[in-house]
Amino acid sequence: MILEVEGLNKSIGGKRILKDISFQMEQGDCLAIIGPSGAGKTTLLRCINNLEKCDSGTIKIDGSYLCKDNNGKSLYASSREMAAIRRKIGLVFQNYNLFPHMSVLENIIEAPIHVLGIPAKEAKDRALELLKLMGLEDKANYYPFQLSGGQKQRVAIARAWALNPKILCLDEPTSALDPELRGEVASIIEGLVEKEMNILIITHDMAFAQRVANKIIFMEDGQIKEAASKEEFFNSYQNSRIKRFVSL
Ligand SMILES: Nc1ncnc2c1ncn2[C@@H]1O[C@H](COP(=O)(O)OP(=O)(O)OP(=O)(O)O)[C@@H](O)[C@H]1O
Ligand SMILES: [Mg+2]
Repeated sequence: MILEVEGLNKSIGGKRILKDISFQMEQGDCLAIIGPSGAGKTTLLRCINNLEKCDSGTIKIDGSYLCKDNNGKSLYASSREMAAIRRKIGLVFQNYNLFPHMSVLENIIEAPIHVLGIPAKEAKDRALELLKLMGLEDKANYYPFQLSGGQKQRVAIARAWALNPKILCLDEPTSALDPELRGEVASIIEGLVEKEMNILIITHDMAFAQRVANKIIFMEDGQIKEAASKEEFFNSYQNSRIKRFVSL
């Protein structure tokens, strides 16, 4: 298993946001999380990326415990272990979060140089290679404000990819884009799946989920209501409440 989440619970300000969440990802999976607004999808991704702490439950990434349940309380890895575990997982935000004062190239090489300690020349060569894969080789010296939304999102994906994570998480990577640019980013993600990158993706775009994912989780009200292979999911959702959600 590349990711194991077991019995995850989280409350914020006395409100239960995540309720007993359990699921797994195997090597080569592209897992899509769908569900209505406020279901807890982003909070779940933030917990898995250690941007939020959960109250109870276990998160195991590629054999290492980010946190482990002990009598109903999550015990977190030590800060030294945490640095290594955090490198196994990357997150691309909905709104890109690029550094505005850095060029495209600088955005991508910053963490490989300063976090992974990769020599600058090597980090730069790799960044240019990734930009080429993203169809952005001519944009290395541009600043984020000079790019379209789709281009910014592709730079954000390249930046996360440059750290060679075991799992790449994407929070609605296409929702801020118009339909034309959406296809552009969707094809890039499809390419990552073909390269056997393990992908955990939140999306509202069912056509996209159907195209790229092999497993689907439906979340509602802080809970996982359905977890199935793509085929099972699309066969069974016809008569369920998910259809109401999907058709919205
Ligand atoms: N920092 C916070 N403080 C208080 N409540 C929060 C906080 N973060 C999230 N919540 C609440 O947790 C619930 C789940 O939020 P979350 O952002 O995870 O939902 P989501 O499924 O990602 O929704 P969307 O599809 O709109 O992005 C919401 O009710 C939200 O108001
Ligand atoms: Mg969200």
